[in-house]
Amino acid sequence: MIEGQLKELKDSADAELAQATGVQDVELLRVKYLGKKGALTDILKGLAAVDSSERPRIGQLANQFKTELSDQLTLKAEEFAATETQARLDRDRVDIHLPSFRRHTGRLHPVQRVMREVQEIFGRLGFSVKEGPDVETEHYNFESLNIPSDHPARDMHDTFYLKMGQLLRTHTSPVQIRTMETQRPPIKIIVPGNVYRCDMDITHSPMFHQVEGLYVDESVSFAQLKGTLTYFLREFFGHERDVRFRPSYFPFTEPSTEVDVQCGRCDGAGCASCKYSGWLEILGAGMVNRKVFESVGYDPDQVTGFAFGIGIERLAMLKYKISDIRLLYENDLRFLSQF
Ligand code: DAH
Repeated sequence: MIEGQLKELKDSADAELAQATGVQDVELLRVKYLGKKGALTDILKGLAAVDSSERPRIGQLANQFKTELSDQLTLKAEEFAATETQARLDRDRVDIHLPSFRRHTGRLHPVQRVMREVQEIFGRLGFSVKEGPDVETEHYNFESLNIPSDHPARDMHDTFYLKMGQLLRTHTSPVQIRTMETQRPPIKIIVPGNVYRCDMDITHSPMFHQVEGLYVDESVSFAQLKGTLTYFLREFFGHERDVRFRPSYFPFTEPSTEVDVQCGRCDGAGCASCKYSGWLEILGAGMVNRKVFESVGYDPDQVTGFAFGIGIERLAMLKYKISDIRLLYENDLRFLSQF
């Protein structure tokens, strides 16, 4: 009799489970059939009346019913839970496209950008980077570069003098001397750095930047100077711009030259920015003076070399069409964020 009841119970449980529509239905079925006061418990109350020889078999059947139904219910509940979770995820979708907070990132200062570009171009030609001190002596800044104290070129440098014969270097050229004193040729270096002159207007700042260049070997020629600087200027300003070399004078080079690049605003026709000449003066250069070699103990009959000096602010102002040098030092974000 119990056997028949168990079978009926199983059929009705199966039928009801098929009707279930969610986790809650399944849990109600579990209570109804397998709970402490459930249908199975009711049926098993009749077990006392069963013949003792039959009891183990019926007991086993009841257990089997219990585990099977319990497994079925668990499986079904899990299925419902999964679909319900999925439905909830679909419903509560988070829109990840909402605008976030704007983050302001820093950027390179135009002077730094130009510095890096200059170093990169000369790097391609095999020049390595050297540095020297901002506080210099008269010896390195002037004497050893063939600018003795009575030389008129000293007046042009508007030097900031410090105590005990020291000064703020007026150009990066002293690093030529410092390098040659400690190294033998071949030397092929560029020297980026700060320089100082007591001067201030729309094209002059008391502190500005230069890149010095020096190439010394057994037979460096003026043709190599022209080739190197022409390559640099075309890479920096564009290959369509013409370049010209004018004779000039610097105490530490002989012969000396100043190098111009064709004005980019008027293509050489002449305009206000090139003072109607069609050309912009960019840098000074020349073959290293014998006297400079002598001052570092090189034999001027054994080595030759060329040197050059470039003003970084001037390059930056021409490249980015900046009309007042002071804009570069005022740290106005409206200006700086344009680069
Ligand atoms: N030192 C020079 C200046 O500051 C620039 C210069 C000119 C450097 C010619 C050189 C050079 O090495 O050859 O005005």
